[in-house]
Amino acid sequence: MNPTKSASVGNSETPAGARRDTLSIVDNRTGRQYEIPVKNDTIRPIDLRQIKVHESDFGMMSYDPAFANTASCASKITYIDGDKGILRYRGYSIEELAEKSSYPETAYLILHGELPTSEQLKEWNYHITHHTFIHESIKKFLDGFHYDAHPMGMLISTIAALSTFYPDAKDIFNPDSRRKQTYRLIGKMPTVAAFAYRHCLGMPFVYPDNDLSYCGNFLNMLFRTTELQYRPNPTLERALDVLFILHADHEQNCSSTAMRGVGSSHVDPYSATAAATAALYGPLHGGANEAVLRMLVEIGSVNNVPAYVKSVKAGEKLLMGFGHRVYKNYDPRAKIVKRVAYEVFDVMGRNPLIDIALECERIALEDEYFVSRRLYPNVDFYTGLIYQSMGFPVTMFPVLFAIPRTSGWIAQWQEMLLDHEQKISRPRQVYLGYDLRSYVPLDHRS
Ligand code: CMC
Repeated sequence: MNPTKSASVGNSETPAGARRDTLSIVDNRTGRQYEIPVKNDTIRPIDLRQIKVHESDFGMMSYDPAFANTASCASKITYIDGDKGILRYRGYSIEELAEKSSYPETAYLILHGELPTSEQLKEWNYHITHHTFIHESIKKFLDGFHYDAHPMGMLISTIAALSTFYPDAKDIFNPDSRRKQTYRLIGKMPTVAAFAYRHCLGMPFVYPDNDLSYCGNFLNMLFRTTELQYRPNPTLERALDVLFILHADHEQNCSSTAMRGVGSSHVDPYSATAAATAALYGPLHGGANEAVLRMLVEIGSVNNVPAYVKSVKAGEKLLMGFGHRVYKNYDPRAKIVKRVAYEVFDVMGRNPLIDIALECERIALEDEYFVSRRLYPNVDFYTGLIYQSMGFPVTMFPVLFAIPRTSGWIAQWQEMLLDHEQKISRPRQVYLGYDLRSYVPLDHRS
């Protein structure tokens, strides 16, 4: 980048043939002009550092709370076009994957970049299935939680505890070790989740059944009682599989950013996944599915929807399950979830809360407040209705998000580790606090 003496920047377009992939900046404080490179429609904020008023200045930074317009990495995993409502994993549309793929196959795709051959898929399923058991001491650990502990809290702590069982996981630059931890994490998440659920009910833990599918086995560990062999309902098993596909990755959201940020200190993947799961727990992220259901129960009837929407517009509440940082159109996952909801209702009976949800959606999609802010239903709006119909308590909803998102987190973590441009995550700040001042002894303070 070359600082040059002031030159006014006109609005006229660059003549054909004279195009340069640079951005010219005029600092009106000094009259200096700078030309900085543009690549992939981005500039590098470090190029701004040379912009100074005085030689002793630190230099200019970019200020972007919540990373609203900052790309923190380059990625080849997931593509989103928020205006058009497009979501693709490794180039494959979410609609096609939801129709034709399975969660384990999609997880393979996300992690490896390509769909597996039948041999690769067989091997993948074998390894995932053979890492579903957890150490017996983990059971004792889970037993220590109170009966009404939130399963997300149990999941976060138990994933973190797994790092103490697998010290080999610290060998993060060894591909064999990474592969092994990947099998373990994807294989064990449903087991830990199901055990947390059973603990809350005071029911004995159900061990994994290797003859069942990934989702079938999860349902087995959750719901089996006295049957000799649990047979999942195929519609419910497939519904869960589709929901898991839809939740597998979503590029640089809050939890993936946590995974990358924490992982950038080179901690083991269990500790990083625990951090990502904690980020997911919040009601603005993966905890929204639980919050939606609580909201629908609070609204109580279709007649109360207008009053609730009025309070949202007055800024008193949020319409949970609406809005998205990236989607300014219908979340493509929400459309698929809505369809799956009716398939589940055909088996389990219609969830009466669906009428309240549909009325919220109808009013919101016509209302100027929501239209002008481009607030549409997101993935969490209808998932809770499905989970409730399938017999899950609301506290399990974010857990059902965390299980499939594990594949996305590991893919993001691995991509970060192998990216030579990445370093320990360490943002700057704009300090607006006090300048140096002297300590005041306690008896001199007013
Ligand atoms: N209800 C009412 N108003 C809303 C909502 C909502 N759900 N979402 C955004 N707004 C308003 C917001 O108040 C703001 O209005 P104004 O311009 O007058 O200040 C405007 O819309 C822009 O919102 P924002 O907060 O700047 O948007 P954001 O990108 O920072 O937040 C969000 C995105 C998802 C956190 C937010 O839309 C939200 O809180 N939604 C409800 C929680 C939710 O459903 N979360 C799940 C997200 S999808 C799955 C996932 O990522 O886990």
